[in-house]
Amino acid sequence: MTADPPEYRMYGEFAHLWQQISAPEDYAEEAAELREVIFDLLHGSPEPYRPAVLEMGVGGGNSLSHMTDFIDAVATDSSPGMLDMSRQVNPSVEHIVGDMRSMRLDRTFDAVIILDAISYMLTQDDLRQTFETARAHLEPGGVFIAGPDWINGITAIPNLSCKLGKAAELSYSEYVHDPDPTDTQIELIFNFFIPQPDGSVKVEEDRHLHGLFPLETWLHTMRDAGFESGTRRYSADTTGGSGYYITGIAI
Ligand SMILES: C[S@@+](CC[C@H](N)C(=O)[O-])C[C@H]1O[C@@H](n2cnc3c(N)ncnc32)[C@H](O)[C@@H]1O
Repeated sequence: MTADPPEYRMYGEFAHLWQQISAPEDYAEEAAELREVIFDLLHGSPEPYRPAVLEMGVGGGNSLSHMTDFIDAVATDSSPGMLDMSRQVNPSVEHIVGDMRSMRLDRTFDAVIILDAISYMLTQDDLRQTFETARAHLEPGGVFIAGPDWINGITAIPNLSCKLGKAAELSYSEYVHDPDPTDTQIELIFNFFIPQPDGSVKVEEDRHLHGLFPLETWLHTMRDAGFESGTRRYSADTTGGSGYYITGIAI
């Protein structure tokens, strides 16, 4: 039995503001690198071949919006509000509500991708369940790519990190820290500053947990779920990723 994902305000009551929190154009560079990795692992040449790809944890669909010209995608997420945002930028894509740890669509794809959303997997059991979900949607030889934001021992987790974002309807700050270096989680504290019609500003807090695992945990958990596992590097740094894709070829 899988517990419901935590209800983060960013993906619930503030989901309609996603494109102000995170701009689609920031994902273009990373999507171009991901395209190379997908085709390379599939041993396919790009056009006219359009692989069928399942993206789990699609969020507001910013990454996907740079990929729909070279893949046929199905997009899933546990948040209906975020799927609504993704539908706006990816109108041709089928969108389905689903938890990446437990959903089963009863069909297979050429590739399954989970980008920054994999960071919401907090325990090794979450990772195992998610990798088993990916495997269930692939035939042998199918490709799985996960793009964690953090890898223990590789990505620096500063005790204090503050990132500022500013758009018309809200500004926000993001503070990242590791309250307990002995567990597999870190905390991200967001504050949203929302101007009100009367000239005042409302400040709203949203605390998220992300998983933090060493590379070996990523690799062996993926192997245990039925993949030959490996890594690929990427250099785009506009969305704050770890610079590593963890890759799997379904056995
Ligand atoms: C940072 S957002 C993804 C943004 C996305 N890469 C984009 O381009 O817009 C993270 C997403 O992970 C989703 N998520 C978190 N836990 C999940 C789970 N267990 N199953 C499916 N989606 C999940 C959240 O609902 C959220 O939409």
